[in-house]
Amino acid sequence: MVFGFFKKKEPVKVTVKGSGETFTCNPDELLMKAALRQNIAWPCSCKVGSCGSCRATITDGEGKYPSSPCDPTALLTKDEMANGMVIACQWTPTTDITVDVKIGGEADKRGMI
Ligand code: FES
Repeated sequence: MVFGFFKKKEPVKVTVKGSGETFTCNPDELLMKAALRQNIAWPCSCKVGSCGSCRATITDGEGKYPSSPCDPTALLTKDEMANGMVIACQWTPTTDITVDVKIGGEADKRGMI
């Protein structure tokens, strides 16, 4: 359908597994940025895709990494990626998602120096 091409994208719903908290993510908005905008205490540090402290596992739904000169997936193992783990400060959902992340928890500091 031609008109579908011009259809305005809608925000998607993000549900946090376990706590059941929900928030919205605008089209092309980064997942962690959307959470912080809505005062969700997402674990994070650098906010630019270099430390890995914002890791989260997508248990339902889909998304993408917008094109970037750096590769945030370098912070993840192949097994983590296969299990749905993403770098949330560099990833954006394209559908409603459910995410497993420890809101208000200590950031995963594996990649920090
Ligand atoms: S907050 Fe550092 S990689 Fe996302």
